[in-house]
Amino acid sequence: MNRFRISTPEGTRDLLFASCRALRQTERAVRDALEGCGYSEVITPAVEYYDVFAQANPELDQENMLKIIDRSGRICVARPDNTTPIARIAATRLDDAALPVRLYYSQKVFRSVAGGHGHKGEFLQVGAELIGADGLEADKDILSAAFGALNATGADNFRIEIGHAEIYKSLIEELGVDSAAAESIRRLIENKSFAALGDALAPYGDRPAAKALRAMPQLFGGVEVLDEVEALTGNVRVLGAVSYLRRLYKALDEAGYGSRIMIDLGLVHEMDYYTGVMFRGYIGGAGAAILSGGRYNSLCAKFGRDLPAGGFGIDVESIADSLQGAGRPETATRRDTVRIALTKGRLEKKTLALLKDAGYDISELEAGSRKLIFTLPDSGVEIVLAKAADVITYVEHGVCDMGVVGKDTIMEKGGSFYEMVDLGFGKCRFALATKKGKDVYGGYKTPVIATKYPAVTEAFFHRKNMDVETIKIEGSVELAPLLELADAIVDIVETGTTLKENGLEVIEDVAPISARVIVNLASAKLKKTAIQKVIADLENGLEK
Ligand code: PRP
Repeated sequence: MNRFRISTPEGTRDLLFASCRALRQTERAVRDALEGCGYSEVITPAVEYYDVFAQANPELDQENMLKIIDRSGRICVARPDNTTPIARIAATRLDDAALPVRLYYSQKVFRSVAGGHGHKGEFLQVGAELIGADGLEADKDILSAAFGALNATGADNFRIEIGHAEIYKSLIEELGVDSAAAESIRRLIENKSFAALGDALAPYGDRPAAKALRAMPQLFGGVEVLDEVEALTGNVRVLGAVSYLRRLYKALDEAGYGSRIMIDLGLVHEMDYYTGVMFRGYIGGAGAAILSGGRYNSLCAKFGRDLPAGGFGIDVESIADSLQGAGRPETATRRDTVRIALTKGRLEKKTLALLKDAGYDISELEAGSRKLIFTLPDSGVEIVLAKAADVITYVEHGVCDMGVVGKDTIMEKGGSFYEMVDLGFGKCRFALATKKGKDVYGGYKTPVIATKYPAVTEAFFHRKNMDVETIKIEGSVELAPLLELADAIVDIVETGTTLKENGLEVIEDVAPISARVIVNLASAKLKKTAIQKVIADLENGLEK
């Protein structure tokens, strides 16, 4: 039978019986909580013109929108985001409404996702927007609704972290870098790539803005991080934002949410969109943020009416999934354990030696067995052995809290996680290589590049503004130019022996590679102390 007649598109699923009940129960709890806070429901079309999203929110990735062509040939999209249509309504339909207006929605968002990653192509989001109000009371109002909504789901282990868009924006302006450098620094802060951020900021030495930017990924935790940033910078805009966060924190603490709030000054996602406070929510058992929001005072103006606004969206499906799993004994034990995925093969020996130097008892791992999960005695640490790409998958989905994996796999596969430590071993590099004496760039022919790493290759040539044809090879990629299938290869070079013995040579280095420690986004926040202890142990082990 034709599979398209019986299966559903990538990233979508049927929900039956218990899963349906769990989802509806969570949805109802959140909706009731929002109505209780005075928010009124609106429903927007599932399909809207592409232009609505493209002009208002350029940070929504065009590639990820599910496109539909209407009868007149105009491009429409299945709603990729809920806030943008609400801003359109606020700017065009609420002329007669008394401000501020509290709106809420419970509707799906759709994304076009690549296969095989377990990413969702459709999910139900319940969210709230407070339109026409600005300042501390308004932000407190929105965050109280967010806390109330998560509380109503019955989840007992959620946290909301807050940050402020002005902090990064002011520091990067003070540093005075061009937009490309600013974007690469932003990404490094977002991914908590401490080592790479240090390298990127090295040219700016001890300038106060560089020092503060360098510290940003580490500035997360309790209210004490606000003191730390105040000691780092005299930038008045940053100090203004910090003092604002302090007042907001105090107001929320007084409202009884103190134990649930965290600060993350490294929150720097969607920087052009947010204009003030930004926040994300986490819950144990869900690997990614289950709530995302903030203040976006310039969005409504894009639809013709300048109104301050703020709000949040909750991924009720992930919460329902996590609540369904919460009763399992496995989940309960996992709360107090740090599970680390290690890469089998190339990096395995050195990683195990590091664990030993870090003081962990790895005798069961050394004994050699076919077991896949090991508990390290008296440490609260579990080890999983996996193939490199799977390490990323397990960490991204939150079933492992941390991982040790090569930068090569990180560059090729990407994903959402923090890249916290460069372990400095497993050193090699990506390089462009070809047969001795061959001119890859000569002539008018589009060069053909064979590689096991198509994403790395395409990004490399994209940076050079060059069009190449990439052919994916699974092993011994050096064969491709020898057999005249390709003009050159992009591959890992360690000692250079393989290239040499086959009459090939490096034309250009692409990127250095070494082993990295990656950390799941939610685990970094919910298990901060335990994870930082493992990282400190590993760093001590490195010094031995
Ligand atoms: C890598 C790479 C090269 C070789 C380079 O392959 O693809 O073939 O190592 O090392 P060298 O510079 O020290 O000669 P790997 O051994 O990881 O095997 P794979 O083909 O299974 O990826």
